[in-house]
Amino acid sequence: MPVEDLLSPSVATWTAGDAPLTDVLADHESDDVALVVGVRGGDAAWEPRVRATLTDVGFDVDELLETHEPATKPGASTLVRLPRGRHAARVLVLVGVGDGTADDLRAAGAAAGRATRDRDAVVVLGPAADEGGHAAFVEGQVLGAWAPTRLTGDGWAPGAQGPREVVTVDMEADVVERAVRRSRAALVARNLANTPANIKNPAWMARQARTVARRSGLQVEVLDEKALARDGFGGLMAVGGGSATPPRLVRLSWAPDGADDDTPHVVLAGKGITFDSGGLQVKPPEAMTAMKTDMSGSAIVLAVLDACRDLEVPVRVTGLLALAENMVSATAYRPGDVITHFGGRTTEVSNTDAEGRLVLADALAWADARLDPDVLVDIATLTGAARVALARTMAPIYATDDQVAEALRSAGETTGERVWPFPLVDTYRRAMKSDVADMNHMATSVGGGSITAALFLREFVGDRRWAHLDIAGPGRSDVDSGILSKGGTGFGTRLLLRWLEGLT
Ligand code: BES
Ligand code: MN
Ligand code: ZN
Repeated sequence: MPVEDLLSPSVATWTAGDAPLTDVLADHESDDVALVVGVRGGDAAWEPRVRATLTDVGFDVDELLETHEPATKPGASTLVRLPRGRHAARVLVLVGVGDGTADDLRAAGAAAGRATRDRDAVVVLGPAADEGGHAAFVEGQVLGAWAPTRLTGDGWAPGAQGPREVVTVDMEADVVERAVRRSRAALVARNLANTPANIKNPAWMARQARTVARRSGLQVEVLDEKALARDGFGGLMAVGGGSATPPRLVRLSWAPDGADDDTPHVVLAGKGITFDSGGLQVKPPEAMTAMKTDMSGSAIVLAVLDACRDLEVPVRVTGLLALAENMVSATAYRPGDVITHFGGRTTEVSNTDAEGRLVLADALAWADARLDPDVLVDIATLTGAARVALARTMAPIYATDDQVAEALRSAGETTGERVWPFPLVDTYRRAMKSDVADMNHMATSVGGGSITAALFLREFVGDRRWAHLDIAGPGRSDVDSGILSKGGTGFGTRLLLRWLEGLT
């Protein structure tokens, strides 16, 4: 198994061909090509273009339909082995594209990716769809072809071997390229989230950030525990205080060519708890098992910043990674502690397991005070309550600005990362009163745990336009199916990139 760089997940080399399928198959250097073709629901005789193209290449479509009944359901695939000799294709992979919606096409792409994981060369005939549909198909295929990276005796190794290269036919080059870049970014986030916590700690994450900054032309600044203590980042210091590996705050900044102070500035902040044991109010065993992925928000922010140059994001973007390990020890913070956040606001700690909001509060307050963002967005595996409310496929979104909320919602609709607007119910704020500090960091006995966590964060964003994504549900997957692999999902990466690509 080859050694793999976690920041460079194994993705095929994609080329958007401008030649017709006949020529691509005739000229292909390999004679072992998997040809991917979408089949629509309804009409079993297939759309005329597919029929004509396949006929052109030398398939007898009617004979094919006599011997096979290709599944047309999105996510289904049918493999037809082809005799050697006529052309480069050795296997025809028919993937159901259902009604051709973006969701159907994403599922079809994932099926194509899964069916061709062990192939060397793949040729894809673009399904009948608009650009959004093609992007969904390609993103599905990249994600579906991937399997979690393994740590073997020889080092990190890719979880799936291939394909080495993919050539597309009848799809716009720019659409294909961007889709590959977005989904590759999601895979970077998955790799970081899946890295075990005995390897990954705040300093390790900061090192990954430096590597990313170097390769992607970003400015980088790392505040270590001394700087954090000096500048009053009480939330990060408290949460990270129980760990043998101290907290970090990382800032990464992207500016497009010719940017100046008038270029819009987006700040993205990610929760980066490299392991969440719950702290002194320790989690029960089952709840703790998956907690190496509690830094998913910061992994996503890092992956998004990494992709800004490749996707030519037209606005300034600053990424903040609020990194700490929430552990149990003699130096751990305690329930009842009062901590002073960056900027001076104090909070009473009621539960050491509600740590995410404490580190984010510092990052948000710092962004508000120092970075002058036009829009501030945070992303966090913040509350089990969000998971209870929307389960594993959708994330609550909270915002102080309807336009920002709507733009993010619509970006997620496009990428299939669905976010649902939740209310910032002002009257619940009362439940977070404290007798000993400016406020309590959580509400007791009112329910709505995802909402009150959002209300807490809002206290730190000043008058900024702000949105908060609570990805505790979809941030991690227990299933290996479609575009999902077990472990971190990178949910939100493609959404944020789509949104940023469209800003001016
Ligand atoms: N990291 C957890 C939230 C979480 C739970 C993420 C399940 C993914 C899956 C967070 O730090 C946490 O422990 N939240 C507590 C908050 C509570 C103590 C107010 C929760 O949701 O139970
Ligand atoms: Mn916790
Ligand atoms: Zn947590």
